[in-house]
Amino acid sequence: MNKTAQTDYDIHPLINQRWSPRAFRNEMPPRDALLRLFEAARWAPSSGNGQPWQFVVTSQENPQAYEKLFTTLHPANQAWVGSAPLLVMAVMEALRDNGRSNLWAPYDLGQAVANLAIQATAEGLFVHQMAGFDREQAKAAFNLPEQFEPMTVFVIGYLGDPDSLSEDLRERELAPRERKPLSSFTYENEWDQPLER
Ligand SMILES: Cc1cc2nc3c(=O)[nH]c(=O)nc-3n(C[C@H](O)[C@H](O)[C@H](O)COP(=O)(O)O)c2cc1C
Repeated sequence: MNKTAQTDYDIHPLINQRWSPRAFRNEMPPRDALLRLFEAARWAPSSGNGQPWQFVVTSQENPQAYEKLFTTLHPANQAWVGSAPLLVMAVMEALRDNGRSNLWAPYDLGQAVANLAIQATAEGLFVHQMAGFDREQAKAAFNLPEQFEPMTVFVIGYLGDPDSLSEDLRERELAPRERKPLSSFTYENEWDQPLER
């Protein structure tokens, strides 16, 4: 299955080979590979070097914890997530050390997860992020202190067999990846003036 992005300009293979599968092999990545993923997240840039990211990792080796996070997912995500060995909650710290709210915390957390996903690609692993979960339920289930907010849950694992999915999910799994054209979001000098090729 080739899901490599069909790009208009050449980009690094680690970027065009990353995608978000739904079928995963029931195989745990080695612990050192997992740690390298979070090391990659660690070195993301952040506003004021505030590093407002936290991750709660659960795996099928601890079914109780995995289940606790799994039950927060929307049914549409529960339909495919169970095949992945690792389920992670990405949490942002909403307040800075001085007690003021950190407007850039979601941006910074996103950059950390982007780093992690690229490192995963380098390790032969895949990440699929989800906003489709109950944030309040997740916050309560893991007893997060007040200033911490769950933002996404993501799975990590090796690519599985699309035939393990239901028909509609298999169709999406095999569909080509799509993006808006570069010209639709890049401007030069002025808003709405296309970036010159
Ligand atoms: C913040 C965020 C939330 C997402 N939420 C979901 C989700 O709840 N369920 C899902 O199946 N995919 C989810 N996705 C995956 C996107 O649908 C996917 O990244 C997008 O369609 C592009 O596909 P690609 O990652 O394969 O290039 C989410 C991705 C991000 C970054």
